[in-house]
Amino acid sequence: MRLSRKLTAMALASAMVLSMAACSSSSSAPESSAAAGGSTTTTTAAPAGDTTTAAATEAAKEAASGAENAVPGGGNIGVCIYKFDDAFMTTYRNALQEILEGKGYTVTVMDGKNDQAEQNNQINNFIAQGVDALIINPVMTSAADQIIDTVKNADIPTVLINREPTAEQMAAYDKLVYVGCDARQSGTMQGELILDTPNKGDINGDGKVSYIMIQGDPENVDAQYRTEFSVKALTDAGMEVEELDLQRGDWDRNKGQEIAQNDLAKFGDEIEVIFCNNDDMAIGALQAIQAAGRTVNKDIYLVGVDALDAALNEVVNGNMTGTVLNDAKGQAAGAVDAMEALLGGKTYASGEQSIYVDYVKVTPENAADFQ
Ligand code: GAL
Repeated sequence: MRLSRKLTAMALASAMVLSMAACSSSSSAPESSAAAGGSTTTTTAAPAGDTTTAAATEAAKEAASGAENAVPGGGNIGVCIYKFDDAFMTTYRNALQEILEGKGYTVTVMDGKNDQAEQNNQINNFIAQGVDALIINPVMTSAADQIIDTVKNADIPTVLINREPTAEQMAAYDKLVYVGCDARQSGTMQGELILDTPNKGDINGDGKVSYIMIQGDPENVDAQYRTEFSVKALTDAGMEVEELDLQRGDWDRNKGQEIAQNDLAKFGDEIEVIFCNNDDMAIGALQAIQAAGRTVNKDIYLVGVDALDAALNEVVNGNMTGTVLNDAKGQAAGAVDAMEALLGGKTYASGEQSIYVDYVKVTPENAADFQ
């Protein structure tokens, strides 16, 4: 058993050298692991960053020295999702489960039901069961300290996803990585989608872009940054803006519909743009737009984020101005790669614990590529 662990670790180390030597420098996400799909062998992934041969050798040594921590022939992985009833996180968790199971891991996925206390219990139960690693989508970003404390005390390699803590918070534990996206980028892309329209969002030609902002859960940095950077892209381009309303829709389709319906009744034709922090709320807003007899891309613009299937269809049909791909599969693959690196013994220095996957702007021209 001990010998086979060592051999596995050595194989891991050499696979790592190969994969690191093969990959190009400084990518924003780790290269995918070299594991053969469906086999029960787990391999470590090459971390993002410098990929010189010296660095590769160093990383291989690190992996080898972490050999006792390596999980031979799969392992038990606990996954905590903030709530199952979230359109984007449903796509994400399905991708995550598929990748993990395809690699031979035993996976248990828990529904936090948007309740941090419930999720804390789930994390404690996973620890009591002796899982090899945890992948956690926190319910509250503000609970990050407590979560990090818990996994650190239990010495469980942990990947946080989707809700990013601060670098200072993560620095408390070196077997902790965050895999996600830089939400500023998605906000900027939403603003660019509006700037790319024939009148740059100023449909009535009064010299300003009048918009409503339907925000996700404001506790979440994705909601904060998308709200800020979508508008900043407009003002950076010299456009004057007028915020008619900003309301939280908590990422939820029905709330998006209600907010848009009320605002359309209140502000009527004054609304030129509806910014939604995600697609599910944009689909809700679209229902309200159509019920109010308005026409997207003619007398109103509508943008979201995520590139959910429903939104891609609406972009193709011209009922949404555009969206931004929030790459669930890429993030899931990145999370698994980071988890395997941790299982291989890699530790992460403070300031290097966030791994980002790029967003992609989606327009009618390229929407079909993502369907
Ligand atoms: C965002 C996503 C939203 C929602 C949220 C949950 O990244 O765009 O649709 O899933 O995460 O935290």
